[in-house]
Amino acid sequence: MIRQLLYRSGQLYEFTVPDMVRLLLQSRTFNARHGIGGMLLLRDGLFMQLLEGPAAAVDALYARIASDPRHCEVRLMVRAERTAPLLPGWRMGWSEAPLDGEAPVFHGLETDTRALALLESARSDRVAAAMRDFLHGAPVPGGGLGCARVMERVL
Ligand SMILES: Cc1cc2nc3c(=O)[nH]c(=O)nc-3n(C[C@H](O)[C@H](O)[C@H](O)COP(=O)(O)O)c2cc1C
Repeated sequence: MIRQLLYRSGQLYEFTVPDMVRLLLQSRTFNARHGIGGMLLLRDGLFMQLLEGPAAAVDALYARIASDPRHCEVRLMVRAERTAPLLPGWRMGWSEAPLDGEAPVFHGLETDTRALALLESARSDRVAAAMRDFLHGAPVPGGGLGCARVMERVL
């Protein structure tokens, strides 16, 4: 069995493209070493991240991520056990959903379209559905809205 966590948060730090490249590289290296996989999504100043892997390693990583001051209002949406990962082989996929008519903020970073295709094909999976809804801008309760507004005021 593996543990699966899904959380939402609000972006608090104004990541540059190199910052985000560094975060993803660091994450992929660390996650690969600990058998953890998943995907990080960004939409309109909000993050959603899937973490899956050995229970203790996933819980320990989540505790570290949750105390990272670069985001806030970290809200756990799903904590479950499953027999196989939703995104096998993905050490940390990435996708940003640009707002209508706007260029993506992280234009240098390639969306992991194969991971997105896996989310699309998992039609009856509630975690995949929550991730698809998030990217399509559906209003999802809780997680990050307050601090995304704080960042808007700061910028
Ligand atoms: C939105 C977000 C997602 C993150 N995802 C991961 C991740 O999947 N793996 C990882 O090792 N670090 C991730 N980090 C970075 C960790 O929060 C932390 O900075 C990193 O593990 C280094 O921890 P340390 O400074 O205690 O050594 C993420 C940070 C943020 C803000």
